[in-house]
Amino acid sequence: MRILFVTSECYPLVKTGGLADVSAALPPALARAGADVRLLLPGYPAVLKGLSGLAPVGDPIPDLPGMAGAAPRMLLGLMPDGTPAYALDAPTLFGRPGNPYMGPDGRDWPDNAQRFAALAWAAAAFTAPAGLDPWWRPDVLHAHDWQAGLVPAYLRLRPDRFGSEQRPGTVLTIHNIAYQGQFPPWTMGDIHLPSSAYAMDGVEYYGGVGYLKAGCYYADRLTTVSPTYSQEIQTDEQGAGLEGLLSVRAGRLSGILNGVDYGVWDPARDPLLPAPYSAEDMGGKAVCKTALQEAFGLERAAARPLAAVVSRLTWHKGLDLVLEAAGAWVAGGGQLAVLGTGEPWMEQGFRQLAAWHPGSVGVRIGYDEGLSHRLQAGADLLLVPSRSEPCGLTQLYALKYGTLPLVRRTGGLADTVIDATPAAVNDGAATGFSFGAATVREISFCLRRALALYRRPDRWQAIARHAMTRDFGWEAPAREYLELYRAAQADAA
Ligand code: ADP
Ligand code: GLC
Repeated sequence: MRILFVTSECYPLVKTGGLADVSAALPPALARAGADVRLLLPGYPAVLKGLSGLAPVGDPIPDLPGMAGAAPRMLLGLMPDGTPAYALDAPTLFGRPGNPYMGPDGRDWPDNAQRFAALAWAAAAFTAPAGLDPWWRPDVLHAHDWQAGLVPAYLRLRPDRFGSEQRPGTVLTIHNIAYQGQFPPWTMGDIHLPSSAYAMDGVEYYGGVGYLKAGCYYADRLTTVSPTYSQEIQTDEQGAGLEGLLSVRAGRLSGILNGVDYGVWDPARDPLLPAPYSAEDMGGKAVCKTALQEAFGLERAAARPLAAVVSRLTWHKGLDLVLEAAGAWVAGGGQLAVLGTGEPWMEQGFRQLAAWHPGSVGVRIGYDEGLSHRLQAGADLLLVPSRSEPCGLTQLYALKYGTLPLVRRTGGLADTVIDATPAAVNDGAATGFSFGAATVREISFCLRRALALYRRPDRWQAIARHAMTRDFGWEAPAREYLELYRAAQADAA
C-alpha cells in the first residue's frame, strides 16, 4: 500500500512540537510494517537543505493556489534516515527561514491560507489522472492537522481536476484541535474550491473558511492521537467548536496513541547525555542529575528532588499552575529546571521565579533539543499539568528515562501515566503521578505526594524502573494505522 504522508513539520529538519516527532517516526514504522510511505513537506529552506539527493519529479504544477503565474516543481529526496520525502519547491510561499507558521514578529504569516492550500493542492495533484509523479501514485493520503486539512476537500470537490478511476482513501489526523486554520470568507477566492463548498455542509466555519473543519468534514477517516482525546473532542468543553461535526462522524473517528522513537529517546544509547544508564544500571542517572543542576545553576544536592519542565509555554500547557505552586515545592526542598519558549507573560513569569529562588529554580527560555534530553535524564520528575493534551510525548520520554511524570489526567496523559496511589504502588503498577482539576490546590497536593514518596528511595526507584520498562514503541500504533488505511481505501472505493 502506498501512503502519502502530508505534514508541515518533521524532525530533525523543522520542528515546533510533537507533530514533527510523529512525522519522523511513524513513516519508518509503517515502512517496517510493509507500507510504501513517502512524506510531502513544504519546501522550507531547512527542508531543501536537509533532504539529500533532491531532484525534480513530474511536470511543474501550473495551477497551485497562491502562485499566480509561476509553476513550482515537486522535488523528491531522502530524509536523513532514508525515508523518501517530496518537497514542494515554491520559494515565494515557503522560502522563509525560522518558524514555519510565523514571521520574526511572532505573528502568523498573512498568507498562511494560500501557503497551506498550496501544500494540500500539491498533495491532491499526486492523484490526478496524469499523476504528479509518473512513477508513484498513492493509495491513501494521510493529512495532518489544519495545514493539510484541505487535502480531503480537494479530492472530493474537484473530481474534474483530481478524479481518477479509483479515488485514494483519505485520513486526517488531528494532533491538536486548538489550532484550526480559520481564515476569512474571501479566502474562497484563492483556493480553487467551488463556491458551493462555502456552506455548513462544506468548508464554511463560523463565518469563514475552516481548514481543519474541511478535513473533518471530507476525510474518509478521522483519527486523533489518544483514545481519551478522541472522546474529549466530542464535548463542548474540548471540541473547540468542532464537537458537533465530530459527534456526527464519531463512527469514523478513532484514537490511536502516539509512540516513541526509542532510537532517539533511550538513556542507554543517547549521545546527548553526560552518562548512559538503563533500568538494570541506574548509576549514570545520578551523573546526569549533577550535570543538570550545574547547567541550571542549582545547588548540587543529590537528595533534593528535581522537577523539570520541557514545553511550549502556553496557557493550554497549564504551566501557570507550576508558577503558582513552585514556592511550596521549593520550601519543601524541591528544585525546578525549566526549558521552554512561548507566550511572553509566561516566559517572564518563569524568569521571575528563577530570580526569586536562586539555587532552587533555573530557567532557560528558548528551544534546545540537546538540553531537552539532558532534562529528561537528569530530573526526578517531569511536570506536564496540561489543561488539554491530545497525546503528549514528553511524558512518554520521561517514562523511558526513569523520570516520573506528574501530569493532569486529560487526553493522552490520562492514557499513559498510572498514578502512584497506595494501591498502585503496592501492586507495582504505578508509573508517575496525576491529578484531576486544573487548580493550584490539586497540583500542590500532587507535588506533596511526590515529595513524600521521594523520601522513600526504595519505592521511588522501583516505580522508576517499572516506568522504564513500559513499551510505547511505534510498532503497535503503526499496525493500527495500516488497518485504518485499508478501511479508508474501502470507503473511497
Ligand atoms: P506539543 O506538540 O503540544 O508541543 P508534545 O509533548 O507532543 O507537545 O511534543 C513536544 C515536543 O517538543 C517534544 O519532543 C519536546 O521535547 C519538544 N520541546 C518542547 N519545547 C521544547 C524546547 N523548549 N526545547 C526543546 N524541545 C522542546
Ligand atoms: C500536538 C499535541 C500533542 C501531541 C502532538 C503529536 O502538538 O499538542 O499532545 O503529542 O501533537 O501528536
